[in-house]
Amino acid sequence: MMESEDDTPRISIQGARSFGRAARAKADRQIEAVDVADEAGVDRDSLWATMRRLPAGVTVVTAVSDAGYLGITVSAFSLASLDPPLALACIHTDSQIAGAIQASGGFAVTILDGRQELVAEMFAGRAPRPDSAFAGLPHRTRLTGAPILEGGLAWLDCRLAHALPAGDHTIFLGLVVAAGVAAGHDDPLLYFSSQYRRLAL
Ligand SMILES: Cc1cc2nc3c(=O)[nH]c(=O)nc-3n(C[C@H](O)[C@H](O)[C@H](O)COP(=O)(O)O)c2cc1C
Repeated sequence: MMESEDDTPRISIQGARSFGRAARAKADRQIEAVDVADEAGVDRDSLWATMRRLPAGVTVVTAVSDAGYLGITVSAFSLASLDPPLALACIHTDSQIAGAIQASGGFAVTILDGRQELVAEMFAGRAPRPDSAFAGLPHRTRLTGAPILEGGLAWLDCRLAHALPAGDHTIFLGLVVAAGVAAGHDDPLLYFSSQYRRLAL
């Protein structure tokens, strides 16, 4: 993973901070080894410490509810199948949007640009959330009616195919019925070790 050239905090909002290279280097020095085994399932802290080592792209999954639009920041998003075109998102079942995806039968996914850290924080509930019309947050819809956020790298629009319970999360598997790439965007927002990162291009 390459470091950003920029050492200055990019954004500072309600309890959320993006640190520069110096702070990250310091954090890296505090990484401790983990080695656990338990047939009943490893403990949450060890699992989290392990998964924090996997750099992830950041998406916002959106859906239409009776009360308007909902969205959630999701890194657990992946292509599941090319033929048929299926994508999956793991979303914690208590989330408001989980019910909306089930009820509306669809969801959209916006893959965030490196400059959309604030958008990620909004939909993670760590910055003021947009209103139910996503006013002030440019968006459009395609086939399902779920909003696709402007400014992202790419997007997918999915009809819900299966909702599989998976512990405290639900795996939403969707048939991709529309997809697109924004011209000129080539700098994804990444999340690694509980911090937003950028690729050094
Ligand atoms: C970078 C990032 C990635 C996240 N990825 C996921 C995810 O894959 N699935 C999930 O359920 N929550 C994920 N979250 C947490 C949710 O965005 C957060 O819990 C959100 O506020 C839930 O919305 P709710 O208030 O409707 O429950 C992520 C948060 C961040 C900051």
